[in-house]
Amino acid sequence: MHPMLTTAVKAARRAAGIINRASQDIDALTVKHKNHNDYVTEVDRAAEQAIIDVLLTAYPNHAILAEESGAQGSSEYQWVIDPLDGTTNFLHGFPQYCVSIALLHKGQLNQAVVYDPSRNDLFTASRGQGAYLNERRIRVSNRLKLADSLIGTGFPYRDFSHLDAYMAMFRDMLQKTSGVRRPGSAALDLAYVAAGRLDGFWEIGLNKWDIAAGCLLIQEAGGLVGDFNGDDSYIDTGNVVAGNPKIFAQLLQTLAPHLTTALK
Ligand code: IPD
Ligand code: CA
Ligand code: CA
Ligand code: CA
Repeated sequence: MHPMLTTAVKAARRAAGIINRASQDIDALTVKHKNHNDYVTEVDRAAEQAIIDVLLTAYPNHAILAEESGAQGSSEYQWVIDPLDGTTNFLHGFPQYCVSIALLHKGQLNQAVVYDPSRNDLFTASRGQGAYLNERRIRVSNRLKLADSLIGTGFPYRDFSHLDAYMAMFRDMLQKTSGVRRPGSAALDLAYVAAGRLDGFWEIGLNKWDIAAGCLLIQEAGGLVGDFNGDDSYIDTGNVVAGNPKIFAQLLQTLAPHLTTALK
């Protein structure tokens, strides 16, 4: 394993320990509202700090972008961290959440870890080296038709500016796929696409820390990721479409009629 990936795994496991301990007594947590439907707890913050400590101890000069504490440092290496992706699920004891850590080198995705502490699923990838689930190589699914596919998504839940476009997409997807799921952790949804558990995924307006690690997992598992035009701007816009290559193309086609100018 690449030494930087080994460090990222160590950091993710450290955070998972904090999350697992806290999950034993969720009612004891202090929950703060950042915005409407946007929560943060001391677990998010403690997990994030633990990750940053591990990473900066190994690589003191690297830069960080983390959900709860923002950006620090400047370097050609930047770690992008979501310490707890799926906070709402976590707060309800709904076991679908994860730790997500990615390393960008000169802006390019280089290492990725997505760790689901409830199932002990560790997804990892290094650029050019394939993607793994608990040390077994994973590949995207080989399903050919959207009609046979299980598709993941994320509902708008705090920014409703694209709600009409989203609902039109959703309506169409319900009729053209074999099923649509909203598990509630975008990073884990993307890891599931990499592992072939989902055939595809789409969501509007995610953040860099939700998607960085998952996107490398998918690419290293033979899948495709793009914005609604199939282009690379997804990492900045957070408008993400992903899937095995066949389903990716069919998702883009299905979503296209519903795109407003803001989403193009
Ligand atoms: C959220 C989850 C969710 C997605 C949201 C994200 P958080 O992350 O990934 O699936 O729909 O847009 O904000 O806030 O729980 O880390
Ligand atoms: Ca959050
Ligand atoms: Ca997140
Ligand atoms: Ca989070």
